[in-house]
Amino acid sequence: MSTASALRPARARTALAGLALAAFSTLTAAQTPPSIVELAAQRCGICHGQRGESTNEQFPQLAGQNARYIVKQLEDFRAGRRSNVAMDVVSKELDAAQIEAIAKYYEQQTPQPHPSTDALLVGVGRYVWERGNPFSRVPACASCHKDAVGRGNAHLPRLAGQHPLYVENQLKRFHVRERKNDAGPMTFVTDRLTELEMRAVAAYIGGMNPPR
Ligand code: HEC
Ligand code: HEC
Repeated sequence: MSTASALRPARARTALAGLALAAFSTLTAAQTPPSIVELAAQRCGICHGQRGESTNEQFPQLAGQNARYIVKQLEDFRAGRRSNVAMDVVSKELDAAQIEAIAKYYEQQTPQPHPSTDALLVGVGRYVWERGNPFSRVPACASCHKDAVGRGNAHLPRLAGQHPLYVENQLKRFHVRERKNDAGPMTFVTDRLTELEMRAVAAYIGGMNPPR
C-alpha cells in the first residue's frame, strides 16, 4: 500500500513528461523529416506490418529480406519493370536515399516463418526445392536460391519463411509474364512447374527458418 502511494507522484510526473514530449514531437515533426523507422511505419506498415513482419499473406514479409534485392524491386516498380497498383505509387514517393535506408532497415528486422500443417505437401515441396523435377527439367530452387536454406544473397531474394500464398502468387505471375523483372530464370522455372509443385514448394518455403 505504502509502495503504491509512493509511486503515485512519480507516475504523475512521468505522465506529465510524456505529455510534454508528445507536444514537443508534434512541434518538431513539422520541421524535421520523419526517421526511417517512422517512414516505414507510416508509408509501408499498413500493408507490410510495423517492422516488415506482414501479418496479411497477400503482402510479402520484408523483415530479413536482403537489402540489395529490396532496392532492386523498388527501382523495378518505379521504372515499370514490375507492376502492382499500390507499389507503383508508393515506390515513386521515395527518393534514392530513402530507398537505400528503408531497405537496410528491413534487412535488419527479424523474419518469422509461416509453416504449413500439411506434412505431405511440405515433403513434395522439399523435393522440388532440393532436387527440382528431373522428369520435367525443373532445376532445383536451391541451386540458385543459395545455401539450401533459402537465405538468398545480394542478387537473390530471401525466400525462407515467406508467406506461402505470396510465393505461390509470384510463381504464377512469373509464369504468365505479369512479372518479368528477373531476366529469365524464373520464367524458365515456372514454365516447367505444375500447380501442385508451386503450392508444395511455397508450403515448404514458408516453414524454412534458418538462423540469420
Ligand atoms: C497498400 C499496400 C502497400 C503499401 C502501402 C506498400 N506496399 Fe510494398 N507491396 C505491396 C504488395 C501487394 C506487394 C506485392 C506486389 C506483387 O504482387 O508483385 C508489395 C511488394 C513489395 C516489395 C517486393 C518484395 C518482394 O519480396 O519481392 C517491396 C520491396 C516493397 N513492397 C516495399 C515497400 C515499401 C518500402 C513500402 C513503403 C514505402 C511499401 N512497400 C508500401 C503492398 C504495399
Ligand atoms: C536459375 C536461377 C534460379 C532458379 C533455379 C530459381 N530461381 Fe527463383 N529467382 C531467381 C532470381 C534471379 C530471382 C529474382 C528476381 C528479381 O530480381 O526480381 C528469383 C525470384 C524468385 C521469387 C520471387 C521472390 C519474391 O520475394 O518476390 C520466388 C518466389 C522464387 N524465385 C521461387 C523459386 C522457386 C520456388 C524455385 C524452384 C522451383 C526457383 N525460384 C528457382 C533465380 C532462380
